[in-house]
Amino acid sequence: SPFTTKASSSSSSSTPIVEPEGMKISSVPTKPIEGQKTGTSGLRKKVKVFMQENYLSNWIQALFNSLPPEDYKNGVLVLGGDGRYFNRAAAQIIIKIAAGNGVGKILVGREGIMSTPAVSAVIRKRKANGGFIMSASHNPGGPEYDWGIKFNYSSGQPAPESITDKIYGNTLSISEIKMAEIPDVDVSRLGVTKYGNFSVEVIDPVSDYLELMESVFDFQLIRSLLSRSDFRFVFDAMHAVTGAYAKPIFVDKLGASPDSISNGVALEDFGHGHPDPNLTYAKDLVNTMYSENGPDFGAASDGDGDRNMILGKKFFVTPSDSVAIIAANAQEAIPYFRNGPVGLARSMPTSGALDRVAELLGLTFFEVPTGWKFFGNLMDDGKLSICGEESFGTGSDHIREKDGIWAVLAWLSIIAYRNKDKKPGEKLVSVSDVVKEHWATYGRNFFSRYDYEECESEGATKMIEYLRDLASKSKEGAKYGDYVLQFADDFAYTDPVDGSVASKQGVRFVFTDGSRIIFRLSGTGSAGATIRIYIEQFEPDVSKHDMDAQVALKPLIDLALSVSKLKDFTAMEEPTVIT
Ligand code: G6P
Ligand code: ZN
Repeated sequence: SPFTTKASSSSSSSTPIVEPEGMKISSVPTKPIEGQKTGTSGLRKKVKVFMQENYLSNWIQALFNSLPPEDYKNGVLVLGGDGRYFNRAAAQIIIKIAAGNGVGKILVGREGIMSTPAVSAVIRKRKANGGFIMSASHNPGGPEYDWGIKFNYSSGQPAPESITDKIYGNTLSISEIKMAEIPDVDVSRLGVTKYGNFSVEVIDPVSDYLELMESVFDFQLIRSLLSRSDFRFVFDAMHAVTGAYAKPIFVDKLGASPDSISNGVALEDFGHGHPDPNLTYAKDLVNTMYSENGPDFGAASDGDGDRNMILGKKFFVTPSDSVAIIAANAQEAIPYFRNGPVGLARSMPTSGALDRVAELLGLTFFEVPTGWKFFGNLMDDGKLSICGEESFGTGSDHIREKDGIWAVLAWLSIIAYRNKDKKPGEKLVSVSDVVKEHWATYGRNFFSRYDYEECESEGATKMIEYLRDLASKSKEGAKYGDYVLQFADDFAYTDPVDGSVASKQGVRFVFTDGSRIIFRLSGTGSAGATIRIYIEQFEPDVSKHDMDAQVALKPLIDLALSVSKLKDFTAMEEPTVIT
């Protein structure tokens, strides 16, 4: 079967190397496989690629070859996943290689299920050495689609580039896989199974995470909102991992009605869906929220539960606004922040809405490259409380991953807080009221992202090179249509904690009125290249805040397309996704 590696199918070519009591470990010969470099968030490939002999095993072994032994020998590692196709088989391979390399214990979510934020929470709570997440996040799942693997470190954060680079290096020289010859572990029942010095504990994927959420938020307050008859809440789990979390949290704990959860069962192919909570892929939810007499609050999360989308009645909250609004309201609405957040951060392409909150509240502020891993050091160093990305990621230092359900609970807290004294029949403060009030106070940062997916790599790369060159030659004061250039560059970031440098993180053209055009290649695709164009314009004038973002940004979008010569480089006529 393609699911088993050599060690478990035949041991003829393998030599036993150690034999702790009750467990035989084999040395399985292997050869390097090309292309195992991790992207923005772990290693992502088509399922078929991962199912090639030793493909996954090589990467897992290369990981152990890259970690200092004290980081895993006799240690505890967490294993979770988003429920996608191939996770079950992959879990067995990972468990066997972990055992073969001397890991003491694996904590695995029942049925291999555990959301990315929950893995981060479990690593932290149980003081594990790290954890694996079997997920390709929001990429589609099933035999024809994507699979992925991420490794998170002991404070629950994605492994830093220094480690992922080492793993890649080791995939190029690997010659042996250490595999424990143990039977497949039954991950469907809670409890501990021992194999000599190694053990596997199957844990409930929800309870540690739920306990954490109860310590962060005022569940009583949220319950008071969700149980109102004049407030209707809907959550779309997109047949992905938050299906396992939505009912226990929103329904059982917080009193939402059971029918408020849609697509609440995690499926291996996400019900043929593309589990990405945005205006394109969460169409059903968007249609519900924009229908006549639709619900008051709608939210969705992605494949592995770390992304979120927040909607009000006929209203979409951009992720860039969302993090700014959460930050501005955190102290009063969320007990975890009762002493106020210490610092705020966003990724470079995310709009400047958060910057204005930081300024007004007098908080330290950081701009990091795209990728949640860049927030971790700042959090570990006590510099950062709340952060977010335009890519539908929002979170805080309660864990070291972005957190979809946390974002939904944060928004519910804000709305609940604003309405806590409202009598039945009194008009409630809505999601859109909160956002518009925010704009009135801070100004509005119009923002949109254009994605051109599955472009031919060569053209896409050439376009970025062209823009990088153009940026380096551009002069302050140069005219771009009606805009005057303040500066243009290719974003580079020096981590203030460990001094590590990340360069070539996106070409940006910043204009004197604060408008920005940014070009990047996605680091999360699994085929071809995805070009992202981020467009932003600040508008202080309240009378213009109701404009549609696409209308307000039209001149800048046109400028972005002409400056980049995108159509010439890629032959793409239209973006595949607009958010
Ligand atoms: C993942 C990462 C995020 C990142 C996003 C977009 O979700 O965890 O931190 O913002 O991918 O990455 P991309 O490289 O595709 O723009
Ligand atoms: Zn995700």
